[in-house]
Amino acid sequence: MRIAMKHKYSKYLNGLGLLFVVWSINFSGLNKHYFSAKPGGDPEERILARVDSVMEMMTLEEKIGQMTLFTSDWDVTGPTIRATYKEDIRAGKVGAIFNAHTAAYNRELQRVAVEETRLGIPLLFGYDVIHGYKTIFPVPLGEAASWDLEAIEKSARVSAVEAAAAGLHWTFAPMVDIARDPRWGRIMEGAGEDTYLGSLIAQARVKGFQGDDLGAVNTVVACAKHYAAYGAALAGRDYSTVDMSERMLREIYLPPFKAALDAGCGTFMTSFNELDGVPATANKFLLDEILRKEWHFPGFVVTDYTSIDEMINHGYAADQRQAAEQALDAGVDMDMQSAAYYNHLEDLVKSGDVQEEQIDQAVQRILRMKFLLGLFDDPYKYSDEARQKRELLSPEHLEASRDVARKSIVLLKNERGTLPLNRDIRKLAVIGPLADNHQDMIGAWSGAGDAKDVTTLLQGLRNVVGQRVVYAMGCEADQDNRDGFAQAINLAQSADAIVLAIGEKAYMSGEAASRSDITLPGPQLELAQRLKETGKPLIIVLMNGRPLAIPWLAEHADAIVETWFLGTQAGPAIADVLFGDYNPSGRLPVTFPRSVGQVPLFYNMKNTGRPMDPNNKYTSKYLDIPNTPLYPFGFGLSYTTFSYGDPRVSRTTMQAKGSITASVEITNTGKLAGTETVQWYIRDLVGSVTRPVRELKHFERVHLQPGESRQVSFEITLNDLKFYDKDLHYKAEPGDFQVFVGPDASTERSVKFTLN
Ligand code: GLC
Repeated sequence: MRIAMKHKYSKYLNGLGLLFVVWSINFSGLNKHYFSAKPGGDPEERILARVDSVMEMMTLEEKIGQMTLFTSDWDVTGPTIRATYKEDIRAGKVGAIFNAHTAAYNRELQRVAVEETRLGIPLLFGYDVIHGYKTIFPVPLGEAASWDLEAIEKSARVSAVEAAAAGLHWTFAPMVDIARDPRWGRIMEGAGEDTYLGSLIAQARVKGFQGDDLGAVNTVVACAKHYAAYGAALAGRDYSTVDMSERMLREIYLPPFKAALDAGCGTFMTSFNELDGVPATANKFLLDEILRKEWHFPGFVVTDYTSIDEMINHGYAADQRQAAEQALDAGVDMDMQSAAYYNHLEDLVKSGDVQEEQIDQAVQRILRMKFLLGLFDDPYKYSDEARQKRELLSPEHLEASRDVARKSIVLLKNERGTLPLNRDIRKLAVIGPLADNHQDMIGAWSGAGDAKDVTTLLQGLRNVVGQRVVYAMGCEADQDNRDGFAQAINLAQSADAIVLAIGEKAYMSGEAASRSDITLPGPQLELAQRLKETGKPLIIVLMNGRPLAIPWLAEHADAIVETWFLGTQAGPAIADVLFGDYNPSGRLPVTFPRSVGQVPLFYNMKNTGRPMDPNNKYTSKYLDIPNTPLYPFGFGLSYTTFSYGDPRVSRTTMQAKGSITASVEITNTGKLAGTETVQWYIRDLVGSVTRPVRELKHFERVHLQPGESRQVSFEITLNDLKFYDKDLHYKAEPGDFQVFVGPDASTERSVKFTLN
């Protein structure tokens, strides 16, 4: 609008613009056209005025440069690297660089842009700071298991402080893709299967990254990705086809993106997948209809790595020129690594296939972000080596990482009080390929994290009980070799208990890391079975980036803790839980199936016309396995126990403009203080379209002393009952509802009410 208006009255505005430019330019050295803001007025208006005054002076080629993002060769996160990115910067043909980091290196690249290009427009530096920059936190699926929004925000906050100290302005996070298929490797990167939990976590992460002021030197602009529905890839295979109803898209996959936007997320990233036949990178329904017209998103949209180019493989574009036109027409502002805009936009404008106004719209959004970040006022403000030295791996950050890691651990089994371990244990055998492993602890997408900074599980346990810990690796997780079994078994026979650290290698989850088999890789299960034969208490420490099918362990281990990949402080955090310094409070953010044959398996499924009935052949079930999961969504144990009273509602009928309050009494019936995550689910019994058997609508983490009871309540409003009805109108329908409350999604503790 602004730009269109400006072009209409350009002869007047050019004069005014020129005056403003002359007035505001402060020449400080060669080529430095930084535009100080006019005092007073609406901040957004002031920013846009400054943007416009820069754009007045830009050539078409320079504008297209701002729409071009290239990777440096410091890190590899995709299939191509351009060796000429530094020359491209110098030529003013690149506006942003990713995978470049550290204060010194980014200062040097920034100097080239600011001192050696015609207009000196500063670069934007982006990087995948997904769960930490140098201090690495648990992988996001692990953090989601904490259900602790403050802890999750804290993790993103520390990540931003360190990233911004290392010359970065922009993180390609949070990844907010809902994932219901554990075969998909990127399930580790998000918040699991649930839309409500995923939306709250998306908001927490955006707030953590962006803080209250993008211009501050300890905040970075966030990027909600991958827009959209990337997690619904057919067969759980990365980059695969996505095809779903608009209802499912709006109900399940879009809300976390809207939550991120409502939290102020400054950028969005398009996904690799097609959606209903149109690649997301050229999907006008997603990028214009929803993102701009319905949601009024003010930020800019970047593609994923070469995803404009990939529309040729999709069979949607005949060549890169057509792909560039399609992406721009759909609403993509910045091209990551295809060089499609770099190669073709100027020609597309000159041939009249695209309008310069479209270019101007994109450039305005991008420059607006650079002004918000303060880069025009001081392009070097994020490259301060003293701050970098002070912030990275600081004691406070390491403690924060350990705290978030502890809270991410889920106790899946604990028979006969096997855990917590006694500090006076005579001898503890620590075994397994992940017990003294540094690199895998930081998981996939570990940014600038360094394995040498990791404290392993073995080190963490030795920090507590010293040399009374004995260790053997036993086997590798990805090699079919049993040579180490004998030593491990022999060690176990001399010990009082066994801690067996098994699971996946970090490379087995993350991007391009789908698995068709979600059981333990290599000979790990066999090692566990041999160790079980020793008769010693067998404590399994799982380290993995996805739900694993572990039915034998679930039946035969004495205790199991799910620890995901916990980051730099993995060892101390797990030791805190195993020795009872922290009573585990994690809850699964994703269903654990018994077998990959059940997948996709998630808690909020539909009832079907023939719901499973074990006494009736003709109902929805398998011949060879129950329908139920190994561990349900929301599941997690504690070293104490909790009991729930019968839930009640303040009244049995609810008026559309009113609310009712559901409540229940929770009691800590054990001997230790502990935290219970009380979960509330709602079922709409009859709708104009079928409704899930239940949906998470509220939860509360409640810390109770032994013997303590507390009333926990949930005020249900109309918003908790809305859905996309048969006409895709988002509304609640009168009728009967059931509200469930309990420790996980399998609870049958419920009470009914009616919406009038
Ligand atoms: C990768 C990922 C995306 C990441 C980007 C830049 O291919 O899909 O999540 O942010 O490229 O590294």
